[in-house]
Amino acid sequence: MKFFLDTAEIEDIKKAVALGICDGITTNPTLIMKSGRNQKDVIQEIAKIVSGPISAEGIGDTTEEMVKEAEEFSTWAKNIVVKVPMTKEGLNAVRILSKKGIKTNVTLVFSPSQALLAAKAGATYVSPFVGRLDDIKEDGMLVISEIMQIFRNYGFATEVIVASVRSTKHVVESAKLGAHIATIPPKVLEIMWHHSLTDKGIQTFKEHYEKHKNTVK
Ligand code: E4P
Repeated sequence: MKFFLDTAEIEDIKKAVALGICDGITTNPTLIMKSGRNQKDVIQEIAKIVSGPISAEGIGDTTEEMVKEAEEFSTWAKNIVVKVPMTKEGLNAVRILSKKGIKTNVTLVFSPSQALLAAKAGATYVSPFVGRLDDIKEDGMLVISEIMQIFRNYGFATEVIVASVRSTKHVVESAKLGAHIATIPPKVLEIMWHHSLTDKGIQTFKEHYEKHKNTVK
């Protein structure tokens, strides 16, 4: 399973890269806005740190606008993946970009039928948003399970990026379902390291070491 980081924060990316757990990056206009920086500058800086796929998202509505944006983004670095929204115009753009050898990530996917259409269009990646589904009292992980079953049935090459991840449970459930990738916000990644029994166990072993070290030769 690959771990992508869902962020445009350079320091967070550097930390995950140093730990060897950053296989790629996803960004969106909200994350770029939060970084307070120009999109091209941030993406190019990320590309100096991360060799895996880096998703960049535009705001085009028509197929032509999306293809134009994608062509521009793909000049920024060799590992750019272009995020395309799950619309008819978006999937037309995916077909065109796929023929041009530009990798795509179909974003804002909320149902298995949308994922199936994106895979048939030749998307490199598809991003179902589990957290936003849970927010409206739907079952995000059920959608992942259905997409994985469909992709396996037909051997689609499209990889599933579990997006809008809000908890360690989302990551673990994704792994159990065999999802190719989870794109994880830095805050969730940080929580994944911890368990209170780990901290307690380290403390106890240290105490016992100190207690014992001068009692025997
Ligand atoms: C994925 O590519 C998106 O950037 C992201 O996961 C959206 O997450 P959110 O629902 O927390 O905004």
